[in-house]
Amino acid sequence: MDICILGLKGGIGKTTTAIHVAAYMQRFGETLLIDADKNGSALQWAEKGLLPFNVCNVEGSVKHIRKAEHVITDTKARPEKEEIQAVAEEYDLLILPTPPKALDMEALLKTRDMLIDYGTNYKVLLTITPPPRKRPGGGEKIPSTKEKEARELLETEELPIFKSTIYQYTAVEKSPLSGVTVDKYDDSYSAIAWQCYENLGKEIYDGKK
Ligand SMILES: Nc1ncnc2c1ncn2[C@@H]1O[C@H](COP(=O)(O)OP(=O)(O)OP(=O)(O)O)[C@@H](O)[C@H]1O
Ligand SMILES: [Mg+2]
Repeated sequence: MDICILGLKGGIGKTTTAIHVAAYMQRFGETLLIDADKNGSALQWAEKGLLPFNVCNVEGSVKHIRKAEHVITDTKARPEKEEIQAVAEEYDLLILPTPPKALDMEALLKTRDMLIDYGTNYKVLLTITPPPRKRPGGGEKIPSTKEKEARELLETEELPIFKSTIYQYTAVEKSPLSGVTVDKYDDSYSAIAWQCYENLGKEIYDGKK
């Protein structure tokens, strides 16, 4: 399966999503993460050699691609129209991450408008979202107002959206410093943070060939 992570804005969780989706997909087959952002954030994350999948830049991807069953591409912020068209035509799925902030959501709606002509398969992912709160008496947790409002807006706009939300945890933010995905990062929130990506992975790909 070939997946591209795309967004008009910077700092919306593209690279973090790409790394964790790649880690999930690696369980089911050889996975390659192509870092198509000249900043090379994914390549930096991989520098310690601790990630369970290959990461390369576009120029170095040819040989790896032949062996890969799954390709995840991380893109730069503010892509050109031509780049959007190219990825819209090449990939099985485009993931559009967005934090639940007004400005980020506005940029997301613009991305949607740019994709409309290509009839591509895309899905919005809420990222860097405040985690749900515990109910006073226990039971199911209460989603944050930000998450609820963002989902309402996305539904009104009839945008396809993942049920899974990627919540904001410091462990996720720190994991690149150790060169690992959050499940391998030593922190009491690692497991709960990884669960977000595991849920997302299940939604994307159920492991059946
Ligand atoms: N689930 C999360 N919890 C906490 N922090 C997060 C999470 N996801 C991303 N972040 C943090 O948010 C910031 C932006 O994330 P990331 O680098 O993945 O975004 P990006 O869209 O790739 O940015 P750029 O456009 O600069 O490449 C980073 O500091 C990252 O650690
Ligand atoms: Mg990035």
